[in-house]
Amino acid sequence: MTKLTITPLESSELGGLAQALDMAALPNSDLAEPDRMFFRFDADSLVGYGGLEGQGTDRLLRSIVILRDYRGHGLGRALVAALEQQARDLGIGRLHLLTTTAAPFFRALGYTDAVRDAAPPAVAASREFTSLCPASASYLAKAL
Ligand SMILES: CC(C)(COP(=O)(O)OP(=O)(O)OC[C@H]1O[C@@H](n2cnc3c(N)ncnc32)[C@H](O)[C@@H]1OP(=O)(O)O)[C@@H](O)C(=O)NCCC(=O)NCCS
Repeated sequence: MTKLTITPLESSELGGLAQALDMAALPNSDLAEPDRMFFRFDADSLVGYGGLEGQGTDRLLRSIVILRDYRGHGLGRALVAALEQQARDLGIGRLHLLTTTAAPFFRALGYTDAVRDAAPPAVAASREFTSLCPASASYLAKAL
């Protein structure tokens, strides 16, 4: 698997992430709010971003994006694996996500379809669940 380095983003670096999310039509209006951590992923250079949201052992996996020129080479898979390891290191036990575009990608990485009404309260209360992602988005979860 491609080796990626994962580096936390400083708040001053959120502009690049916001732009990448905008180009991928993913939500970016809440990046500076509390309880969010975002990371950049580098191979020889920047290839993508991803983030975690929430507190405690159940958190949202969000803002997963591989820059357009680098897609289709296994980097998305490597990015999610690196972010899952980061989550394990933080003591996170289960990741949750909403997606309108990439459910098959996440299913192939071990995420399984879940019922939105059964999401843990903190996850269900997130802005992604309550307002940013349409009700038609797929909800998937994975125990780490
Ligand atoms: C989804 C995304 C992160 C995948 O990154 P990537 O580097 O192209 O993915 P990989 O090359 O690691 O692909 C791994 C596998 O998933 C498949 N795949 C990739 N993107 C997919 C998608 N959107 N839907 C279904 N399958 C997908 C690939 O075909 C590949 O399958 P294979 O192992 O059978 O060949 C990337 O396409 C992206 O940034 N998309 C825009 C943002 C987005 O939709 N993010 C997810 C929403 S939270």
